[in-house]
Amino acid sequence: MCGIIGYAGNRPAVPLIVEGLRRLEYRGYDSAGVGFVQGGRLNVIKAEGRLAALEEKLAHCPNTLAVTGIGHTRWATHGAPVERNAHPHCGGRSGQEHLAIIHNGIIENYQELKADLLAAGYEFRSETDTEVLAHLIAEGRARSASFLEGFAWALRQARGAYAVAVVTEEEPSVVYAARMSAPLILGVGVGEHFVASDIPAFLPYTRDVVFLQDGEIVRLTDHSWEVLGLFDLAPREKSVQTIQWDLQAAQRGGYKHFMLKEIFEQPRVIADCLAGRVEETSHGAAGRALLPELDALPVPSRLRIIACGTSYHAGLWGRHLLEQWAGVPVTVEIASEFRYGEALFEPGEMAIAISQSGETADTLAALRLVREKGCPVIGLCNVVGSSIAREADAVIYTQAGPEISVASTKAMCSQMVLLALLALYYAQRRAVPGAEAVRADAFRVLRDLPDILEAALPAMRETAQRLARAYASAGSFFFLGRGPAYPLALEGALKLKELSYIHAEGYAAGEMKHGPIALIEPDFPTFAVALSDNLFPKAKSNIIEVQARRGPVIALINPGVELGVEEPWVVPAVKGPLAGFVALPAMQLFSYEMADALGKDVDQPRNLAKSVTVE
Ligand code: G6P
Repeated sequence: MCGIIGYAGNRPAVPLIVEGLRRLEYRGYDSAGVGFVQGGRLNVIKAEGRLAALEEKLAHCPNTLAVTGIGHTRWATHGAPVERNAHPHCGGRSGQEHLAIIHNGIIENYQELKADLLAAGYEFRSETDTEVLAHLIAEGRARSASFLEGFAWALRQARGAYAVAVVTEEEPSVVYAARMSAPLILGVGVGEHFVASDIPAFLPYTRDVVFLQDGEIVRLTDHSWEVLGLFDLAPREKSVQTIQWDLQAAQRGGYKHFMLKEIFEQPRVIADCLAGRVEETSHGAAGRALLPELDALPVPSRLRIIACGTSYHAGLWGRHLLEQWAGVPVTVEIASEFRYGEALFEPGEMAIAISQSGETADTLAALRLVREKGCPVIGLCNVVGSSIAREADAVIYTQAGPEISVASTKAMCSQMVLLALLALYYAQRRAVPGAEAVRADAFRVLRDLPDILEAALPAMRETAQRLARAYASAGSFFFLGRGPAYPLALEGALKLKELSYIHAEGYAAGEMKHGPIALIEPDFPTFAVALSDNLFPKAKSNIIEVQARRGPVIALINPGVELGVEEPWVVPAVKGPLAGFVALPAMQLFSYEMADALGKDVDQPRNLAKSVTVE
C-alpha cells in the first residue's frame, strides 16, 4: 500500500505534492519521490527513508517552477526499500526516458511483461513491477497515435491491481491516471485538479471529489478533467460529491478508528495476498500455489513456527492446514519462551518466524538462535526490509499494507492467507495424494472470500454493535473453539482484553470441563465459535455444558443451524478450515464495538506498543 498524488494547476506543484505526501505517510513511508516536467525535460527526485529525506534533497534543487507533477510515498511490495526502487519510475529507451509513473498496487504478470520489454531492448534500473509499467507505456506510446492511446494500451496488458499517475514530456501540463482494484480519487478544485489514493492528500484545497472506478482513466489539466473507459476510451459520466470529513477522519477513510478501517480492508488484503501467487491455467485445472521465494529451499521434514501475540495465533491456525493439507508436522512456539529453551532440531527441520513488523525482539532473537543451530528460517513479514526479513534465509511478504492500529487485525488475516498458500505449496512439492483437489477447492474459497466478506462485514458490524450494548458490562468472558477455531478463540480473547480491558480467556472448548467451567455463572458470558465443520457436534456439546451452568452464550454459527443459545450469530458458510476467515472479523468487530461502547482508546490501548523491540 503506497500513497500517490498527482496535481495539475497553477501553484508550485512540488511543495504542494510533498505536503500532500506528508498527509499520506500513514499509507507507507520507506521511500518517497516526485516527478514533473520543467523546461520540456522530465525531472525525477527521490530518496530512501521517510519524507524528510526527500525534502532534504529537494532543498538542494530549488526553483522548481513546475505547476504539474506527481508524488509517491512507498510501502515496498517488490524490491527492497532503497532509492532505485522508489517511485516515480521513468519509461522510455535508455537516455530517452520521456515519462514518469507512480503506482500503488501489484502487477501480477510483471515478470512476463518484463521479459518481453527486455527482449525489445528496454533497460531496467530497479526490481519493481512499476518500472515494467513505465516502459510498457513508452512502448504503447511508440505504437499509438496519442499518449492517451498508448497509456491505455499498456494498462490493458497489465494484470493485477493498480492506481497509477503519469506525467509526460509530450504534454507537460497534463496528469494521466487510472485505476484497477486500488483506490484512486479525483479532487476537483478551481483552476486546479488532483488525483490521489486517499482524500487527505488534497483536502486543504478541495472537498469536491469524484470516486473513480476500476477500468477508468482520468486526464487532468488545470482547467479540465475527463474520465474515460480504459477499454473503449469513451467518456464516462461522473458525479462530483462534496465530502464533510475533517483531516483525521479522512486519513481513516471516514471510519471512526484505524482499527475499524483495517478490519474493513480485509477483503482487499486477501485479494492482494493472492495476487501473483496462484497460477493461472487455461484448461480449468487447479493452478499451482506460487511461492518462488521458497523454491531454492528444501521441503522441511518438520516445521517450527515461532511468533508472538497475534502472529502466534496465526501460526497456531496455520499449523492445522500445514499438517492436514501438506502432511508436514508442525510445532508452534512462543518466541519469548523458545529463545530460552533447548532449541533442539532434527536434520531436515525448518522454522518460520511470523512477524507483522519484522522487528519484534523475541522473534528476532529466536530466529538468530535457530540459524545458529544451522536450521533455515523463513520470514513471514509485512514490513519489507525489516530485521526479520533481512536475516531470514527466505522471506514471504504478506503485502497487507501498513497497519496503524496497535491491535493487529488485517495482518493476521494476511498471515493466514500466506500460511494456507504455504500448506498448498508444500502439498504440491511433496506430491501429497489428492493435493490437486484440495488446492482447487481452497483456491475457489480464497478467491470468493473477498466478495463474501465485503458483503457480510456491514451486517457483522451491526450485530457486534448490538451485542456490545448488551454485554459491555460483563466482567469476564470465555472464548471457545475447537480445531482450527481454537486459535481464533485465543485471538478473540486477546482482542477483547487488549482493547476493552475486560478479562477474557480463550480455551479449547473440550478443555473446559478440566477446570474453567467452575467459573461459569449467569454473569460470565461465553463466546463460542461453532461453525459447521467436522468438530461441530463436539463444540455443540461443550456449549450445552456451559448452558447447563446458566452461562449466557454468543455463538458464531452457519445458516440453517439451530443451537438454542441466547445469541446465535449467523455468519456466511465457508468450507473447512478456511471458515476462520469469516470468524476472525466477527470477533475483531465484537472487541472493537465493546471497547468503543466503553469509551476506550481503540487505536492505542493503554500499556501496549505496535512493535515490541525490547525484551
Ligand atoms: C505487539 C502488538 C501485537 C502483535 C505482536 C507481535 O504486541 O501489539 O498486535 O501481534 O506485537 O508483533 P509482530 O510485529 O511480531 O507480528
